[in-house]
Amino acid sequence: MARLGGFKYILSVAALLFVSINISVRAQCSPDTIKQIESMFIQNFTQNEAMAPMCLHSAFHDCWNGCNGALFLPEEIDRPENAGLPPLKPLLLPYKTQFPCISIADLINSCAVTALKFLGGPEVPVYYGRIDRGIPDPAGLIPEPTMSLSALIGAFNAIGFSKENVVTLSGAHSVGVCHGVPMCPGHNHTFGNHYYKELIEGDFEGKLNTDVELLDDNTMRSLVQQYANDQQQFFDDFSAVFGKYISRIFCNQTSTGPCPLSDIGVATPAPSQQSVQPSSFEPSIPSNPFPSFGSEPSAPSEPSAPFSSSPFGSSSEPVFFPI
Ligand SMILES: *[C@@H]1O[C@H](CO)[C@@H](O)[C@H](O)[C@H]1NC(C)=O
Ligand SMILES: *[C@@H]1O[C@H](CO)[C@@H](O)[C@H](O)[C@H]1NC(C)=O
Ligand SMILES: *[C@@H]1O[C@H](CO)[C@@H](O)[C@H](O)[C@H]1NC(C)=O
Repeated sequence: MARLGGFKYILSVAALLFVSINISVRAQCSPDTIKQIESMFIQNFTQNEAMAPMCLHSAFHDCWNGCNGALFLPEEIDRPENAGLPPLKPLLLPYKTQFPCISIADLINSCAVTALKFLGGPEVPVYYGRIDRGIPDPAGLIPEPTMSLSALIGAFNAIGFSKENVVTLSGAHSVGVCHGVPMCPGHNHTFGNHYYKELIEGDFEGKLNTDVELLDDNTMRSLVQQYANDQQQFFDDFSAVFGKYISRIFCNQTSTGPCPLSDIGVATPAPSQQSVQPSSFEPSIPSNPFPSFGSEPSAPSEPSAPFSSSPFGSSSEPVFFPI
């Protein structure tokens, strides 16, 4: 018994050591805290219909160059490529005050997967422990809404995603965003395979060129058709591909191009030799890379102003994101 007790003691010391090493490498919230945050998101979604689609799109933008929380840096959020997303920042930053254990990158991705479910989409496995980089990504990496499908596929290839993956991820366009306002005319309020059905039926209202061009390639068209016929297949694929997309962290920020997937270490429960990152990848949370954070006036009229006018029938030009 004594020996067993001793063994148990060693085990628990090892466990404690493991936990504290883990925490010193990346801030982590407890599963209960994550649950609390997610249920607060859902309350916010029911009061602000713009928020869930914005969260989903923000994950695409924050994770393009590896999820790193840099989207909310003043240098990055105001770029034209992030049009429509600035109203999300004052909605999410208060969470960072209330729950300092969560990084901005995790907050964005937690909101995205919660939003996906809220909008009727599939469950996406998500881990927590992304590190906020604190340095803006190079400008111009995010594919532009006007680009051709071949350019879009090329951009995704460069970060490790196939053209089939592009078909799958394009399904995020089933929930539209116009200047940060969800549900543009012609767009559905739910995440689902209606996007693919509309493409097959030739209903191109509100679609991007890159959406319509999916029909021009036999392989891609056949996947569009499969998704139109089978929502479950779309959901299963979206869950896997989007799950992979939002798992890309630790991108090499010193290179100016998008990160090749091989540069990206996926977070593991314990910091192994490989996952111990160079010092530049250490958590930047304590140094607070978000200068406006905390001093941001809560000014509820600011985030809500763009949505107070009718999202329908407005003359504002829709802004769709290719990702
Ligand atoms: C989000 O929901 C939480 C929980 O109800 C609430 O405390 C918070 O004020 C909400 N945020 C906004 C911007 O409405
Ligand atoms: C919206 O999407 C849902 C779920 O995919 C579908 O049942 C519904 O028919 C769609 N509505 C329209 C107007 O397309
Ligand atoms: C990051 O990218 C730069 C430029 O491409 C390269 O020289 C450097 O070795 C890379 N660092 C790591 C840690 O991969």
